[in-house]
Amino acid sequence: MALFLTNLILLPLLLLANFSPTPSLCYVSPYAARVHQSATQTSAYRTYIVLVEPPPPGADEEGHRRWYQTFLPSSHIGESGEPRLLHSYTEVFSGFTAKLTEAELDAVAKNPRFVRAFPDRMLQLMTTHTPEFLGLKNGTGFWSNAGYGKGVIVGLLDTGIYASHSSFDDHGVPPPPMKWKGSCKAVRCNNKLIGAKSLVGDDGSYDYDGHGTHTSSTAAGNFVTGASDHGVGMGTASGIAPGAHIAMYKVCTAEGCEESAVVAGMDAAIKDGVDVLSLSLGSRTSVSFRNDPIAIGAFSAISKGIIVVCAAGNRGPIPQSITNDAPWLLTVAAGSVDRRFDAGVHLGNGKHIDGEALAQVTKPTSKPYPLLYSEERRYCNYEGDSSIAGKILLCEDNFSKVQQSKIRNIMSAGVVGVVLFNNRICGYSTFLHASNSSIVQVTAADGNALIAYTASTESSSAASLAYNDTQYGVRPAPVVAWFSSRGPSKRAPGILKPDILAPGLNILAAWPPSTSSGQGLFNVISGTSMATPHVSGVAALIKAIHPDWSPAAIKSAILTTLDIVNSTSGSILDEQYKKADVYDRGAGHVNPARAADPGLVYDLNSVDYAGYICWLLGDSGLATIMRNSSLTCAKLARVQEVQLNYPTITVPLTSMQFTVNRTVTNVGPADSKFKAKVDVPRSLTVRVVPETLSFSKIGEKKTFSVSVSGHGLDKEGVHVEGSLSWVSEKHVVRSPIVFVVTGGGTAPAPAPSS
Ligand SMILES: *[C@@H]1O[C@H](CO)[C@@H](O)[C@H](O)[C@H]1NC(C)=O
Ligand SMILES: *[C@@H]1O[C@H](CO)[C@@H](O)[C@H](O)[C@H]1NC(C)=O
Ligand SMILES: *[C@@H]1O[C@H](CO)[C@@H](O)[C@H](O)[C@H]1NC(C)=O
Ligand SMILES: *[C@@H]1O[C@H](CO)[C@@H](O)[C@H](O)[C@H]1NC(C)=O
Ligand SMILES: *[C@@H]1O[C@H](CO)[C@@H](O)[C@H](O)[C@H]1NC(C)=O
Ligand SMILES: *[C@@H]1O[C@H](CO)[C@@H](O)[C@H](O)[C@H]1NC(C)=O
Ligand SMILES: *[C@@H]1O[C@H](CO)[C@@H](O)[C@H](O)[C@H]1NC(C)=O
Repeated sequence: MALFLTNLILLPLLLLANFSPTPSLCYVSPYAARVHQSATQTSAYRTYIVLVEPPPPGADEEGHRRWYQTFLPSSHIGESGEPRLLHSYTEVFSGFTAKLTEAELDAVAKNPRFVRAFPDRMLQLMTTHTPEFLGLKNGTGFWSNAGYGKGVIVGLLDTGIYASHSSFDDHGVPPPPMKWKGSCKAVRCNNKLIGAKSLVGDDGSYDYDGHGTHTSSTAAGNFVTGASDHGVGMGTASGIAPGAHIAMYKVCTAEGCEESAVVAGMDAAIKDGVDVLSLSLGSRTSVSFRNDPIAIGAFSAISKGIIVVCAAGNRGPIPQSITNDAPWLLTVAAGSVDRRFDAGVHLGNGKHIDGEALAQVTKPTSKPYPLLYSEERRYCNYEGDSSIAGKILLCEDNFSKVQQSKIRNIMSAGVVGVVLFNNRICGYSTFLHASNSSIVQVTAADGNALIAYTASTESSSAASLAYNDTQYGVRPAPVVAWFSSRGPSKRAPGILKPDILAPGLNILAAWPPSTSSGQGLFNVISGTSMATPHVSGVAALIKAIHPDWSPAAIKSAILTTLDIVNSTSGSILDEQYKKADVYDRGAGHVNPARAADPGLVYDLNSVDYAGYICWLLGDSGLATIMRNSSLTCAKLARVQEVQLNYPTITVPLTSMQFTVNRTVTNVGPADSKFKAKVDVPRSLTVRVVPETLSFSKIGEKKTFSVSVSGHGLDKEGVHVEGSLSWVSEKHVVRSPIVFVVTGGGTAPAPAPSS
């Protein structure tokens, strides 16, 4: 930690050490990332994000710019006279982005008003597609009560937007609220698309990639009938908050997203007056909050009442792979939906295996063909093999572009079809590939069954493929997607991350008519990028009903009303069909209708977070993140991570009893009475004091404590899950409790008494 103090001598080293984590858009690329390297940096100039003390009070935008210039060498760069100052921030923090040499940065750092500097990082943009889908039911009472999100502005930091798409028609959407200060530079701006701005140096906001169009329409796209990706998934599409306004901040190009542009986008969004910020991007790995401009910028946003929703990352199922894990962010994991692009494999022995296919290209046929599998050609590397004509090949998906192109070649060599099975890691969670040809994708387990079938001598090893349209009500659902990044957070293990699970596998949403990675007006892609805007849309709906609620209150409302079981009361499963745990799915699966009326909320304000930042990072962290020179850690109560008033509870289990305090605010009927209901494994004893909470006013706060002791749990790092619910006549306010064994573990279990 000490290394990260603002230290002039250490700074260049620190900067180099920090350069490795590469942020990326959080949708899944099965293919090799296209690494963007700006053409060989001829000079020693590098782009830095520099945080400095604020300008004298009252400085306007030009005043900020002049102030920032005082930190910089007066010379321009090279013969071209390129300016040094690239972005001048006024909202996210006092600071700027500039081109400097290392020696120049050292000089800037000697200015007593210098705070901190980060090298600008290039977020890789990953390319790929898979076809198709998204399922939304029209008109629950809650949806119309929330006016479908009317009056709320959802800002997205993304690749731009295809403004002409029918998802961005404005029928039924009123003009933006008076507070809106943004501008719109797109081919079509209307009451739906009220803001469009590019921070990447082009003058439009056109989406050459598709990602930003997809996420925008998921969060707040209007109703469109006849949405379909090449004929599959036909139906009415809409975003979660179809009545809300959209503001797009284009911070990524096909080559990637520069962190300085992302921060510039946040700065503009805060200034413009958005209510919700949706970030389907992030670092590849989590970074200390005080070295993470996105976390710092987001803190500024939440201090101004903007809720910030971020993707958890796509590095699952590796434990601790979560990114965007600051407690003030709402961090979203990805799961499946109950919809399937059905395609079956019928075997010669009469068995039927259910698979999926995005391109339902051939007509169902009962004609069987030989099914071929070869261990050496496991990945479909059959090039030059003429014996494959007229056969169906069984291959393992290896998520490479090379494999996809080999499959295309094989098809043109007369192969009837390919059955592509998931690898062991993906298990039952099938990531659908874009394709024009007869590819049916099946789970890892079905892959093994098919291999066994081809090896069995009794059977004729024949198979036929049949397409069966889009099926709904598929079970089990939701299932955590294999790629969804897992907790616990390395930075903040005492705060449960991810927060929430939302649909992110094989999601259908709007798409530009033509991109390098897909065509058509709707496309199916997957990632925590796709899960994020679902939750941003839900936040917009809650904001529409409760415009005065803080970001923490909205988050609490969403997190304490989640589904922890599926629609038939079974556990939510992971990609291996094991029971998903808190580090896979967070507090549970999003349930918009209940979130509007949570009964109680766990609220937090900037000062609470400041106490936490002091505990975690001390004064230098506070100065970097809070940007309020009148606040110092000496004046604040330090708030230990586990004591932060978060709607989920993480308790360290030690040999001693441990007590966690929480404060709830009544947002339900004025007169309400809640009783504590604790659900924990037998190895734990939990006492809640007091056991009932009686309220007589809306807005009234009550504090309670949860004391925990465990028995016979001695494996360091092991965690067990339980819950605390405050139950009234009308409400269940549920918080998962994660008990983490720390230190030497808990006291031994008492000897059996018999
Ligand atoms: C969904 O509801 C909206 C708003 O009431 C309406 O315009 C639209 O036609 C509905 N769509 C369907 C498929 O029912
Ligand atoms: C995937 O399989 C193809 C053969 O279809 C092979 O050429 C390629 O190297 C494999 N890639 C990876 C990453 O395993
Ligand atoms: C589908 O076919 C078209 C034209 O035949 C081609 O341009 C496109 O790249 C193909 N898409 C995929 C995903 O193979
Ligand atoms: C096709 O789907 C229907 C449900 O819509 C189902 O009853 C039927 O068994 C399926 N057929 C095949 C061949 O999978
Ligand atoms: C719910 O989950 C259980 C397993 O936990 C599964 O057996 C069941 O099919 C699921 N139901 C639905 C509707 O997904
Ligand atoms: C800075 O903190 C002080 C003390 O809590 C507070 O009164 C003041 O409003 C804060 N200033 C800003 C700009 O947030
Ligand atoms: C929790 O609350 C109890 C009772 O109000 C108090 O004695 C204790 O100091 C509090 N603990 C923390 C960590 O705030």
